[in-house]
Amino acid sequence: MGLSFNNSAIDDLKSQINIVDVVGRVVALKRAGANYKGVCPFHNEKTPSFVVSEQKQIFTCFGCGASGDVIEFVKRYYNLDFGEAVEKLSEEYGISVQKNRFGKDREKYYEINKEAARFFYRAFTEQKNPGYTYMKQRGMEDAILKKFGIGYADEKWDSLYTFLKSRGYEEKVLLELGLISESKGKYYDKFRNRVIFPIINTSGKVIGFGGRAVGDAMPKYLNSPENRVFQKKNNLYALNLTRQDIGKEGFAILVEGYMDAIALYQGGVRNVIASLGTALTENQSKLIRRYTKNVVLSYDADSAGRNAAMRGIEILTREGCKVRVLHVTDGKDPDEFIKKNGRDAFLRLVDGAMPYIDYRLDAVRREHNLDTEEGKIDFVRDAAGVLKELSPVEADVYIRKLARELRIAEGAIKMEIIGNTTDAPVSAVQRSVRREKEAVRDALSPLEANILKTLFINPSLSERLLDFDQVISSTLGQKVKDILFELYGLNGDFHLSQILDRLEPEESEALTAALDNIAVCGNEEQVFDQCINTWQIQRLLEREQALIDRLALADEENNPESIRQLTEQLMEVQQEINSHGGRK
Ligand code: UTP
Ligand code: MN
Repeated sequence: MGLSFNNSAIDDLKSQINIVDVVGRVVALKRAGANYKGVCPFHNEKTPSFVVSEQKQIFTCFGCGASGDVIEFVKRYYNLDFGEAVEKLSEEYGISVQKNRFGKDREKYYEINKEAARFFYRAFTEQKNPGYTYMKQRGMEDAILKKFGIGYADEKWDSLYTFLKSRGYEEKVLLELGLISESKGKYYDKFRNRVIFPIINTSGKVIGFGGRAVGDAMPKYLNSPENRVFQKKNNLYALNLTRQDIGKEGFAILVEGYMDAIALYQGGVRNVIASLGTALTENQSKLIRRYTKNVVLSYDADSAGRNAAMRGIEILTREGCKVRVLHVTDGKDPDEFIKKNGRDAFLRLVDGAMPYIDYRLDAVRREHNLDTEEGKIDFVRDAAGVLKELSPVEADVYIRKLARELRIAEGAIKMEIIGNTTDAPVSAVQRSVRREKEAVRDALSPLEANILKTLFINPSLSERLLDFDQVISSTLGQKVKDILFELYGLNGDFHLSQILDRLEPEESEALTAALDNIAVCGNEEQVFDQCINTWQIQRLLEREQALIDRLALADEENNPESIRQLTEQLMEVQQEINSHGGRK
């Protein structure tokens, strides 16, 4: 792809653009030493691990490993290919970039597609034709057909070919775009007697076509082949028209077919998009994620549709989306449903769409007979497989639900989950179970007690603690910390007695006991720093363990690129452990 532009022109462009400026428009950046820091836009995180170096003109995320220069950032953030990213930057900054032959080609491809789309549109609108009749018969209104640029490819063998040829375009390019095909030295139109759905990307370029047979011809849908301007895995149908609606509604409805998308749109449900005749891809979910994190999957209720929903859930949740699933109850697909029952009925289905966890549990439930003891046990075992992937809070809610449904002790379900994960990295539920155990003891950890003790000796250490807030993690510890931060904020000082006054009797007893056990020897500032250091080492060791686990997985999967990256990270972490004096 780098070939599309002249290399020195790219360097020239980069030298005139500051990455901090480009990134800073979409990510809130804060100066941190020589660099800038922010929350990574490429993965879900709360604490910023995304760093932009002004000096090196690169970005790196230490959380997800994303990194690169300004063009790489624009590519990833806006889901563009190299050429498009260069174009976007050069346009926005008013810097012209000299293109070579390949770069001009892309424009030509878009141009040809646009000409073809117009040709199909004229055939659809300017005279009576089976395509228009068919779409009217399916209840589509003129305004909507126009909005989506619907066209018709007539039944003759060479209408489009002759037209494009007369405009001076070469066969080679038309073949590559999949507009024509060749047989025995003769050229034929690829789309014949079909309703044409132009596929338009979010930059408004016609990138390809879907063609539906008028009547029963096979295949029912014919799509443009993959080519340099059309990649199914990177695009979604209708997004060019509906992204504002998706933003406005706060969620996207993802359907399987072109007709579903158009019919919902016509029916007044406009926050809709469709995949392009393939299973949802990672890039498509990234694309969605740019507009919303809430997605309602509306697939057919047949087994293909259910499988697609499962896969959609997996891909979308990985991008941090909140997914719900609906299957239409009346009619085969959303198109039939909304035409028959109207907008409000469809919106009721949307309201009732199942959160993805319930959906997955439901699928598992279906495989077992819950009337028998055995069935119940098997079901819990399989359900545990779903639950162990959840966050502690989510898991907790569902464990409770399941326990109630099956009349089984919550503890038993938790045990099942732990039993299932002996060979996996520590799961969320395990953590939740452990956390619960800790809460029962609800004592401060020695480390917490130590730190609090130094604070009571020297309240101004509170200011240092601010940076290491998470070191205090027990319920009691957090309560104490909140009170003393509050007092320190008000008075610049606090005393143990003030805190004890504000705790429940058992809590103040526990706190006093914990503090009595600690003797701070020497300088309290040094003790404080040692505690923080110990805690940082613990965290690094945990991170090290997690990386070792991931490496083992990457090794199993035989994924050299991940192995390389993880090894690099591991080495960094181990270096950091050493620099903290860990592992003596
Ligand atoms: P469906 O068969 O459910 O089609 O395929 P549909 O959208 O309901 O079509 P109508 O209502 O009969 O016109 C769903 C989607 O799968 C792709 C198309 O994108 C279609 O919209 N598909 C289907 C193909 O690419 N090729 C096919 O042969 C069939
Ligand atoms: Mn349909």
